[in-house]
Amino acid sequence: KSAVSVRPEDIRKLADEKGYVIVAHNYQIPELQEIADYLGDSLQLARMVTKIDAKKILFLGVDFMAEVMKVLNPEKKIIVPVRHSTCPMANSLTVEDVIKFKEKYNAPFVVYVNSRTEVKAYADVVCTSANAVDVVKAIDSDTILFGPDKNLASYVAEKTGKNIIPIPGETGYCYVHNYIKEEEIKKLIVQHPDAEIMAHPEVPKNIRDLAHFVGSTSQMEKYPAKSQATKFIVVTEIGMIAKLKKLYPEREFIPVTGMVCYNMKKNNLKNTYLSLLEESVEVLVDEEIAKKAKIAIERMLEITE
Ligand code: 13P
Ligand code: SF4
Repeated sequence: KSAVSVRPEDIRKLADEKGYVIVAHNYQIPELQEIADYLGDSLQLARMVTKIDAKKILFLGVDFMAEVMKVLNPEKKIIVPVRHSTCPMANSLTVEDVIKFKEKYNAPFVVYVNSRTEVKAYADVVCTSANAVDVVKAIDSDTILFGPDKNLASYVAEKTGKNIIPIPGETGYCYVHNYIKEEEIKKLIVQHPDAEIMAHPEVPKNIRDLAHFVGSTSQMEKYPAKSQATKFIVVTEIGMIAKLKKLYPEREFIPVTGMVCYNMKKNNLKNTYLSLLEESVEVLVDEEIAKKAKIAIERMLEITE
């Protein structure tokens, strides 16, 4: 099928015929969100997949998320449309960095789920943007190595009062969330004075300080239900707008120009269809690395469940 002729219903039909469950991250394009059986943040989805019977999963997101899913569900076949849909921030922290910082500080290492699987294997515990503060609070140490996101590290330091050492440091950030201009948000505030601001903790402190609510994508989708506001400025990846509009059709959600994750947007109707047709690209994780990474993920689940 050519790009123009693949329709969302073609993908649904093929997935059903081949016995695939479609699982998508909140940042996928709206057409792919529509055909997903499950839509959510990376950890929610990986955990959800452990609870369903389906043996075959088509995952739409980026590579570290697909790998977390495989680590928690080694017996399932997981496929993705594009081999190189990755997260530059996750890739900014290497095992060599972790070893170097651990030697220097001799402190526990909390790793953000947006990280390479082999780096998770060297972590004491994993966290997500939804539970980073609780995970860090639960660790019996005042000094903690935290990476790769320096902005999430600063948010956690602020909320816990602990000595959080960001690793690798200045180079650990998400390019989608880190470069937001304060003037851009202030302009939106002037245009929409009655709107509340929701921001992902991957934004820098000056943006975070303008927000009424700071949280992960899964927390952001719950926030409007608790608020009286009818308008929200959404300071995270553009895909979240489609999800919020669907959940709250009577409210208005205002995006921030340019917040697009190029890798999340590599998945489209055509390559998703082809992926199901060929049952490829299969997600594979080295067994030894998977075993160690799983221990750090399970520690997080013990703390936050
Ligand atoms: P969530 O875990 O909040 O879905 O975020 C994932 C992500 O990649 C943020 O940029
Ligand atoms: Fe990575 Fe940023 Fe894309 Fe999230 S939005 S997957 S952190 S590059």
